[in-house]
Amino acid sequence: MFRIDIITIFPEYFREAFDYGIVRRARAASLVNIQAHDLRAWTTDKHKQVDDRPFGGGDGMVLKPEPIFAAVEELTATSKPASYPAGTRVVLLSPQGRVLNQALAQDLAASSQLVLICGRYEGVDERVAEALATDEISIGDYVLSGGEPAALVLVDAVVRLVPGALGSDTSAANESFSEGLLDNPQYTRPPEFRGLEVPEVLLTGHHADIARWRRDAALKKTERNRPDLLK
Ligand code: ADE
Repeated sequence: MFRIDIITIFPEYFREAFDYGIVRRARAASLVNIQAHDLRAWTTDKHKQVDDRPFGGGDGMVLKPEPIFAAVEELTATSKPASYPAGTRVVLLSPQGRVLNQALAQDLAASSQLVLICGRYEGVDERVAEALATDEISIGDYVLSGGEPAALVLVDAVVRLVPGALGSDTSAANESFSEGLLDNPQYTRPPEFRGLEVPEVLLTGHHADIARWRRDAALKKTERNRPDLLK
């Protein structure tokens, strides 16, 4: 079974997050086991302190390395980060990471255990990125107040690609980004709504014409919304 462990100071944040849709189905079918762990469980001091002031000065607090290293070592059953089991990826979520895309989600879905470390405050001690994480990943060029929403996004994007999670094997192959283009527009009934008509060709039942229209419409939509994908 694919295992996902999330290390966070807000485990409650994830309480219902995985109880819907495809992620819920994948869990119910025992394709994936997702758990959120409280980082404070790996502190050893009376105050369960997870952060401290930055060396060199500056605003805010930085997550300390010791509890994070201890958490990852326990969750991967390794005493040294260099000897993770094959198929284990330890991901630090931060705005400094490489940006998540469909290819990276597919790559992560091919592993067997993901440990997701949610950053907080002004940052995470860099030794986590240097010597503990196998990957540092951002979900986009904007700053969140912590890695938790990013972990939700990553889990959703990855779990739906775990074999068996989607109803049919072809559904993930035909969607946006898998061909380097956005998905084609879709319509359903009624054929006319407030004067807005469904493209005629979709009502004809001519499969070759429909396929051609879809390719063309996907290309036009990509040119309009995401010209960067066509370069
Ligand atoms: N933490 C804060 N901002 C983030 C982002 N854009 N992606 C991942 N983790 C983050």
